[in-house]
Amino acid sequence: MAVERVYFGNMPDGREVYKYIISNQNNCSAHILTLGATFCSFNIEDKNGQMQDVLLGFDTVEDYLERSDYQGVIVGPVCNRIGGAEIEIGGENYPLTANEKGITCLHSGGELGFSLWKAIVTDSDSVEFSYIAADGSHGFPGEKEVKVTYKLTEENAVHISYEAVSSKDTYLNFTNHAYFNLNGFNNGDILSHSLTLDADLFTEVDENSIPTGKNIPVDGTAFDFRSPRIIGKDIDDEHIQLQYTGGYDHNFCINGYDGKLRKFACAEGDKSGIKMNVYTTLPGVQFYAGNFLKGIKGKNSLPMEKRTGFCLETQYYPDTPHNPQFPSCLYKAGEKYTSETVYEFSL
Ligand code: GLA
Repeated sequence: MAVERVYFGNMPDGREVYKYIISNQNNCSAHILTLGATFCSFNIEDKNGQMQDVLLGFDTVEDYLERSDYQGVIVGPVCNRIGGAEIEIGGENYPLTANEKGITCLHSGGELGFSLWKAIVTDSDSVEFSYIAADGSHGFPGEKEVKVTYKLTEENAVHISYEAVSSKDTYLNFTNHAYFNLNGFNNGDILSHSLTLDADLFTEVDENSIPTGKNIPVDGTAFDFRSPRIIGKDIDDEHIQLQYTGGYDHNFCINGYDGKLRKFACAEGDKSGIKMNVYTTLPGVQFYAGNFLKGIKGKNSLPMEKRTGFCLETQYYPDTPHNPQFPSCLYKAGEKYTSETVYEFSL
């Protein structure tokens, strides 16, 4: 195992951005930027012995700041959507940044993903990134100290561990927004990938992608990924839930959630034979099929077309602050938030 640090570019104010590369003995490497603690590349050999980078992303700081659809970044303090862009805590109302259609708070305005984090190499296989979000930034109460550690193992697994503490009672719900293409970022769309998700239920949304409060059975629908399903098979099905979102962009409720690390997903690239198992301690995962990607130039100046990457964003359910029946993500002042998600690659 080894960790290397390379210069990546400069922030608009001149501060330097670095890329940390963690490599193992199987010729795999995980690349993470200090900008957004962004998981920007994962390199692995495919079944034909060709090196593939299975993550979508960009080549420059400017592109990450100006063109991003959250590629690879850490999102928080509350990922996904908050309806009405406000929350109530202890009888007090907090208006939030309404960065989607002027009515929804999406990904907390993106602050964590577009800011510079501090990095420390904590071991020969791990790098810890830290960031402090100010009290009230994007409307969220409490100064929030956030730490995210990336570790690569000899089993080709990338462990992402989160820790956060707020100085005031607040909602905390972090994720990583990596877009995967297991055939390689430059090898077409993800529609022929197969995907398995251990979820009997998914979270119903309205036409603005805000949860209605109901979780509905996947049984007999295009949302049934309990055995391997080709992503593209029914992605344009007439199911009203797919019509609202223009393809998969839903929270799946992970079966058997108990706060312990649990395997809930397996995906496979049809051309590369690269497989990815995903584990998390969290209750939900946003399966987003990259429906909103629209040809913006990414790595190697190649356009990231619609559905050329998919995300498995582990999370508490979206809009939990307005749905007390969902597992709670309200944390007391000083109470520690922790979670872990693992992306494990194999052939
Ligand atoms: C999330 C959302 C999607 C989309 C992307 C960013 O995954 O669920 O609807 O907004 O972020 O483009």
